[in-house]
Amino acid sequence: MNTVNVALIGLGTIGTGVARILSEYADRITDAVGSRVVLAKVCDKDLSRERDITLPAEMLTDDFERILDDPSISIVIELIGGLEPARTMVLRSLQNGKNVITANKALLAQHGAELFDTAKKHGVTIAFEAAVCGGIPILGTLATSLQANRFQSIHAIVNGTSNFILSQMDEAGTNYQDAVNEARRLGFAEADPTMDVDGTDAVQKLAILARIAFGVRVDWKTIPRTGIEAIEAIDFRYARELGYKIKLLAVAASTATGLELHVSPTLVRETNPLARVDNAFNAVRVTGDCVGPVFFQGLGAGRMPTASAVLGDLIATVLGRTAITFKALELWEENRNGIAVKDPREVRGKSFLRMRAVDKPGVLHEISGVFGRHGISIASMIQHAGENRATGEHQEVKTPVSLILTTHDAREGDMRHAIDELERLDCVYGKIVRIGLLD
Ligand code: HSE
Repeated sequence: MNTVNVALIGLGTIGTGVARILSEYADRITDAVGSRVVLAKVCDKDLSRERDITLPAEMLTDDFERILDDPSISIVIELIGGLEPARTMVLRSLQNGKNVITANKALLAQHGAELFDTAKKHGVTIAFEAAVCGGIPILGTLATSLQANRFQSIHAIVNGTSNFILSQMDEAGTNYQDAVNEARRLGFAEADPTMDVDGTDAVQKLAILARIAFGVRVDWKTIPRTGIEAIEAIDFRYARELGYKIKLLAVAASTATGLELHVSPTLVRETNPLARVDNAFNAVRVTGDCVGPVFFQGLGAGRMPTASAVLGDLIATVLGRTAITFKALELWEENRNGIAVKDPREVRGKSFLRMRAVDKPGVLHEISGVFGRHGISIASMIQHAGENRATGEHQEVKTPVSLILTTHDAREGDMRHAIDELERLDCVYGKIVRIGLLD
């Protein structure tokens, strides 16, 4: 039987899961590919760290050159994350004729073009199913099984940490910081979860999804993003009152005037399947012109779900199937005119706005005047009369009250100007919290 030698770089959480599957379930892999797939080398900069797996000493190295110089290794699995040294290691592996498998969405979002071009030049492939939504097989499905479609939209929950935090705030009524602490305690959030909660992780994944589904090469830094940091427990109460849940959504939508891309906290109707995706789960709702809507849900992070995607890529690489996915990427450029990305200011959508406003005559008139001047139509308004005072005669109350407004579809550029103007009004206190609204 033929033997395929594989090297693993990075023996962290996911790396340990991959090493475990490769050693414990070697038979499954052999059955799937008809070759013996052997973990030949494992490279990590800190070999002394305690891990719940024991690997033979001769397999371990802290010197990446030993992998590069070994001609018997044909596949390199990169699981160290981050940009450098991951970029250099992946580039040099490709240049040395080794196929690469990676879960590193930041690397692909930042240096994808360079890496794919290098792989193509050297006749090897990069497989990256684990980079987006961990265990959910979304990239391969978009690139192969759903290939006959022109995609219309993707609405996705791609960050498990922020979804856990939002679920916690909604279900337990906790404030944002307590929910972050709980996510840390349960191991869902990193010690520093900034990139998860500020939408960075989500726009990087969206850039990869948009590349596969819509053929656009977009710099993730140009995709508008809003994180979940400003969301408060009260927003969930108002959302419930209106019949919605709050989710951090990554959206790619094809319109007559271009591709809309953004990541933002969004009110999702309780009847929408995305509204029922809770805790650390991810989900992707794709609509294609032939297939209609398709819904995927699963764990987007964690050792074994991510390792499952990496091993799927390993099997696909051995069988030459990643070459098909790769070809699909090339075909975009050769045969189809990738849709242009729309100017974010031209994107139209509904919004939910929460502001703190003085409770006195004329305030609503002033606020609605700002919307009117920017051509934005108000759809609904909530102000709970009892928030500041017991029942009784009206008196001007200095303490501001929460005022909730939802709008009809409005141009993004107009909405941003209106919010700036509203925040400058004397009757509006502090920052306005804005949440998108998906019907
Ligand atoms: N940190 C990510 C999440 C998983 O919370 O979903 C890795 O992409």
